[in-house]
Amino acid sequence: MDGRLQLHRDGATDGVSRPWTVIDMPTPGDRPLLERLVFSGIVFNMSWEDPEMDRRAFNLTSRDTVISITSAGCNPLNFLTQSPARLISVDGNPAQNAVMELKLATIATQDHGTFIDIFAARRPAVVSPIYRRDLRPLLSDKSRAFWDKNLWMAHRGLYNFGKMGLATRLVRAMLPLLGLRRPIMERFFEISDLDEQRAYYHKHIAPRLWGPLIKRLCESQTFMYFCGVHPTQLRLIDGRHGIYEFVKERIEYALTQVPIYDNYFLSVTATGRFRGNRVPPYLAEENFDTLRENLDRVTVVNGWLGPYLDSQPAGSIQKFNLLDIFDWMTPEMFESTLNSVLRAAAPGATMIYRSGSYTFDPPPSILSRVRRHDDIARELFSTDRSATYGSFYVLSTPDEAPARSSRRVASA
Ligand SMILES: C[S@@+](CC[C@H](N)C(=O)[O-])C[C@H]1O[C@@H](n2cnc3c(N)ncnc32)[C@H](O)[C@@H]1O
Repeated sequence: MDGRLQLHRDGATDGVSRPWTVIDMPTPGDRPLLERLVFSGIVFNMSWEDPEMDRRAFNLTSRDTVISITSAGCNPLNFLTQSPARLISVDGNPAQNAVMELKLATIATQDHGTFIDIFAARRPAVVSPIYRRDLRPLLSDKSRAFWDKNLWMAHRGLYNFGKMGLATRLVRAMLPLLGLRRPIMERFFEISDLDEQRAYYHKHIAPRLWGPLIKRLCESQTFMYFCGVHPTQLRLIDGRHGIYEFVKERIEYALTQVPIYDNYFLSVTATGRFRGNRVPPYLAEENFDTLRENLDRVTVVNGWLGPYLDSQPAGSIQKFNLLDIFDWMTPEMFESTLNSVLRAAAPGATMIYRSGSYTFDPPPSILSRVRRHDDIARELFSTDRSATYGSFYVLSTPDEAPARSSRRVASA
């Protein structure tokens, strides 16, 4: 690797060309050891950001270029159902992009039934007979190398594997030990009235759920790492709020203030499955053809956000979905990555990010160059089904382009 960007559009073997682009950035190995140990291989088998919040914050148009952290590819694909001009999906962990590419290859070659069998884990084993014939030829080298060794995870159902999959399996194994047997959970997820939901929670779930066993689990660093909580993020949350109190408050909020009926995040966690057609937009049948038509608008980037943005033309991106990556960073990295975002941001661009902490404001040097949209952020955050974050931010750049410095910003 000579440091230049490696571009693969028609790199597939035997002449099969993939409609999306794959870029391999140099990924310097200077990431903290614990991060490299914990956050390698599949960590996130599902994107844990509520796409309905993102959709309403962005109001995507067909003129927009949107960049998103990949995680499990769910939210980048949710954006693709809205037909942006271009979708860039970037992740420093190539295994996460391998999940994204397997989804793209399945959309390109299979029907919706097969897509949902694999990625809603209805009949995931159907992936094996089609892998070598249809999917593998379209994958980039890194993704092919990953799935050649790990296809069994998709074959047995992605939501049971990856670090987060193992963590949620442990939770599902513990619920009956707490007296929360399956019928109680199944009944809960079918409630469509919020008052009835709240009453059911306080009568059947809260008295059994919150106690020493769950407290010990929440205070286990290893368990939290397997839940995808980065060591820096865990120090942030636990240091400021106490991890058990934070988890209890967030989950209780989602189980009593947000309708549970279409909460697929918690349904997959507590029962291991999606319910009927209560699935994220990218898995919905009505969006399948749109996804397939838009595959050539996708660029998958193996690399870190900052350096990738610094390689892009100034003012070229309209929407930035930044998840909670800043909780992983030092204050210096946080500031320099936002500098890279602002350099690549078009006039009137929108950035959204989340934090595990109840407050995680942008640094002053950034605040002076953006507008905050706290009202819409608060309103959207109150509907969050993921029960994972302490705060949500919606920022935008001025509609008028400021005088641009050609100096590129080095960052994470
Ligand atoms: C921030 S994490 C957490 C996601 C979220 N909490 C979840 O549960 O889905 C999501 C992804 O971001 C990637 N990531 C973190 N920092 C990054 C950066 N600076 N550039 C690119 N990818 C990054 C990680 O590899 C991981 O796959």
